Parts: sequence; structure tokens; C-alpha cells
Amino acid sequence: MDHFRLKNGVLHAEGVSLCEIADAVGTPVYIYSCATLRRHARVFREALSPCGDVHIAFAIKANPNLAVLKVLASEGYGADVVSGGEMERALRAGVAADGIVFSGVGKTGDEMARALDAGIGQFNLESEEEGVELAATASSKGMTANAALRVNPDVDAGTHGKISTGKAENKFGVSIHQAAAIYARLSALNGLNMHGVAVHIGSQLGSLDPLEAAFVRLGDLIAEIRAAGGTVTHADLGGGLGVPYRPGENPPSPAEYGAMVARITKDWNVQLMFEPGRVIAGNAGVLLTKVIRVKPGANHPFVIVDAAMNDLARPALYEAYHDFAAVQPDGACFTANIVGPVCETGDTFAMGRETDVVQAGDLAIFRTAGAYGATMASTYNSRDLVPEVLVDGDRYAVVADRIMASTVADAERVPEWLLDGDDA
Ligand code: LLP
Repeated sequence: MDHFRLKNGVLHAEGVSLCEIADAVGTPVYIYSCATLRRHARVFREALSPCGDVHIAFAIKANPNLAVLKVLASEGYGADVVSGGEMERALRAGVAADGIVFSGVGKTGDEMARALDAGIGQFNLESEEEGVELAATASSKGMTANAALRVNPDVDAGTHGKISTGKAENKFGVSIHQAAAIYARLSALNGLNMHGVAVHIGSQLGSLDPLEAAFVRLGDLIAEIRAAGGTVTHADLGGGLGVPYRPGENPPSPAEYGAMVARITKDWNVQLMFEPGRVIAGNAGVLLTKVIRVKPGANHPFVIVDAAMNDLARPALYEAYHDFAAVQPDGACFTANIVGPVCETGDTFAMGRETDVVQAGDLAIFRTAGAYGATMASTYNSRDLVPEVLVDGDRYAVVADRIMASTVADAERVPEWLLDGDDA
């Protein structure tokens, strides 16, 4: 459930009309609902109540906006980070350092050192080599790093290939077959406190079956490590729960997920950790856009909106579906192609979509844009970097400015030798 609803014929975010935001901030603009974020955070936590004392670390790659992180921190969420930049954001937003999990397949030595200095709670190691380097870095600082070993369970998540992470051929984690031996070797190193195992098989999962298969394998691994004398006190089950993008789409609910996790992990005797991203933020955000014009097409008219693939990359990257709706619908529908102004055919949000009738100047939204939306935006085609707004009840604030193309150009330099006249 979200808080983007029609009131008196006009789409609102909570108590604020989207027309009002468009007038004040311009378009395109991402709009997040604080009430929806809080609701999702609470529903997800409640769903895990059968699993004991769990730690939930929001995967901030889904939405790293500082205001969003602040809301989730106030709901008791930690953060799952994959870069020094994400770690800085989590800390800046007030996430407790010991509630931060550092994931990521290519942590640099510098990132490890910064994370140790910051006192982050856990490193999820993606290879034995990374563990050896972390142990050496921590030892040299007279520190001990808490770490979990991410395993690759060789399970097909059944999602888009570009967001599947748990097949043997994917770059993530260590093979589940070698994991116990690697865990034992890393446990023997000074500077490292190997205390857990981690798994994450992919994103936007529409079924619990692959997750269950991965968790069963992780449980077997925990037993194997313990049988060999190792200690496992933590198990990080990653993220991945899908959300509905299309009307009628019905992915597993957090409650069904929580019940499955409780059933599979009941004898594990560990603290469970989770890294949800999309399920918290996805339906808490929309991308508000304005129709530039409608032009005829071979089959259907092209609705050219002022948002483009640089603002919302998911359709171009993953053929993702985002629901499109007029801000002031009059009840009429038509079939249209919805496209952005960027000079690529890939800049297409929908082909042959049955949708609200819109015309030049009308406002519309793409729904389910709160996760992997603004964070993946770029300035391609020298477009401005899209701003973000957070709504809370009847108030709203711009929580990320529109960064103008001219500001980006200001950071560029033409070297002296190219300046007019210099090479004459
Ligand atoms: N933990 C790890 C280690 C991850 O790699 C991810 C996502 C998550 C947690 C959070 O997964 P979620 O709960 O959000 O499914 N840009 C793509 C999604 C990439 C997901 C990358 N990893 C998209 O727009 O669909």
C-alpha cells in the first residue's frame, strides 16, 4: 500500500497535490512519501517478528537520499552499503556505525580502512583474498573486524539476468562447496572475527522458492562449519523480495517471507540479518513528469514526456515496467507509446500501453520509482540531474536539488593548449 492517491480528481502524495510540487520544483522530479516508507519499514519488521531479534540493514543502493535514510534510521534500520560513498551517507544520516554492513564484491583497501576507522558492524566478505586483506589491514591498526562470508549457493533466482546474483557463474560470494574450508582458514587469521555467513541471490524475486532453496543450503553450511569446530553467530539473508510494478502483480508478501524464514531458520541459533531495498522504498516513490507533446506514430501516438532514461534507467536497462498515470485523469484511456526526449530508441518507457489520455502540458507519474530510480540517474544528453522531494503529511521539502547541466559543465576544464590562439 502506498500514499499516492487521487483526491478531488488530482493525484496527491499524502496530503500534497502533485500539481503544487510541479509548480514549485518543476519536472521531472522524484517524490517520496514518508508515511509509505515508515509503513513499509514497520510491515517488514513485523513480518520478521517470528524470527527473534533480527537486524535489518536497508540496502541503501536502492535509495541513498539522506532524508530517506534518516526516516529509516529513525525506524531502527541499519544500512547495507557497498562503497565508501554509501558508508559516508549512512553515517551522515545518523545510522549507527555498528548497524552498518559493508557488502560489495570489490571493496578497495582504502574503503576497508575507512570502514574500520568508522567502526562499522560487519564486513560481508566476497572472497578469501578479500578476507586476508581485511585481516591484515585490521591487524595493522590493532583492530579486529567482524566478518561474514558471502556464499554463492548456485540457485537461480528466476529474475532478470542482470539482477541475478546467486548462480555459480555470477561474480558474487564464494562457492558454497568451498565455503566451509575458506571460513576455517579465515577464522584462523588475526584481525578477523569470522562470525557469520551471508547470502543474496538477486533482486525483484517473484517467488519464495529460490530464496528457500538458498537458505536451506546456508543452513547446511552453518552445520558443516560448526561440525568442523567453527563458530557462527550471525546469518545475513540479504534482500531480494519483489514488489508489484503492474496492476494485479502479486509477489510474495513480507508476512509470507517472514513465515518461510522462521520455518527454515528455527534451529540455526544465530542472529538473523536482512538487507531489504526495493520492498521498503520501491512503492514509496514516484517520478513526476510533464508531457512535452504528443506526436503521431506508425501504430500508436508517441507521448513524449520530460523524464527520460537518464532519470529512470530501469526500463532501458531491464525492460522494466513502470505504471504510468495522469495526475488529473479525466477517465478516458488510449493506447500510446511513452518515450523520453533522449536520442536513443532505448529511451522508451512503454510501447503500446493502455493508459490515461494525456496531452501536451499534462502532468503524469511513473509509479514504483522509489527504489533504483534517482540513485541510478545520470546527466546523459547533458540533461539536469533530477531532483527529489520528500512529502510528510501536508508538508514537503526538496531533499535533493536539481543539479543543472551548466553546473556539471562548470566542473569540466579545457586544457590550456586547446584554448583559442595557443597553438597558433
Ligand atoms: N543485498 C545485496 C548484497 C544486494 O546486492 C542487493 C541488491 C540488496 C541487498 C537489495 O536487494 P533488493 O531488496 O532491493 O532486491 N538496479 C536493479 C536492482 C539491483 C539490485 C542490486 N543488489 C533494478 O533496478 O532492478
